[in-house]
Amino acid sequence: MSPIPSTQLLTQLQWRYATKQFDSTAKICPEDWAALEESLILTPSSFGLQPWKFIVVTDPAVREQLKAVSWGQGQVTDCSHHVVFAIRTDVDQDFIQANMKLTAEVRGVPLDSLAGLQKVILGFLPNVNVQEWSTRQAYIALGNFMTSAALIGVDTCPMEGIDPAQYDRILGLEAKKLKTVVACSAGYRASGDKYANLKKVRFPKSEIVSAV
Ligand SMILES: Cc1cc2nc3c(=O)[nH]c(=O)nc-3n(C[C@H](O)[C@H](O)[C@H](O)COP(=O)(O)O)c2cc1C
Repeated sequence: MSPIPSTQLLTQLQWRYATKQFDSTAKICPEDWAALEESLILTPSSFGLQPWKFIVVTDPAVREQLKAVSWGQGQVTDCSHHVVFAIRTDVDQDFIQANMKLTAEVRGVPLDSLAGLQKVILGFLPNVNVQEWSTRQAYIALGNFMTSAALIGVDTCPMEGIDPAQYDRILGLEAKKLKTVVACSAGYRASGDKYANLKKVRFPKSEIVSAV
């Protein structure tokens, strides 16, 4: 027996939708919010490097400013928690070294034993566009967050309809060596959100999934 029956998983994945109207009076309780923050932290990343930070915006005044640079989307101000997914711009040798140190500490292994892994990472990163690679990692966190939210009955709206440069300015992210890539509002749907009842539009499985 799986921890969560597959029927329940599918019910929640059907239940979720990109929420357009949040009930501004409904707040996510601290326990559920703590679990959702953990879902961000527990997100897997390439080499486990976690090249991201998540900024949870609850201040109404800041949210008003963000709404103005989010195509005026009301979710930003009406949701319970608005999360900004940012990538680190300091994914360099020091950052990788810090990551190795943390791994050694947490797992109780000598730092030396990670020298091989460190070498592989240092060989890999110069061959990729690091910010683009980091962005891909951040989107894994977005997916993890939305699915986790759906499983505990929390609504979300992922948002690319934002001006990332303006988010960076409003939140002072450049000085923190961070860059906005995407955002996600979380909370509870308003009863009148007509999008909640729309049928899901997806290509048929036969066109999308194949086996060899
Ligand atoms: C990365 C990403 C960015 C999105 N940006 C927005 C957005 O800015 N505003 C919005 O209302 N919906 C946004 N959406 C929602 C999509 O339009 C929606 O997920 C898609 O149409 C499928 O519908 P469903 O999520 O309700 O099943 C975004 C979705 C994703 C995955």
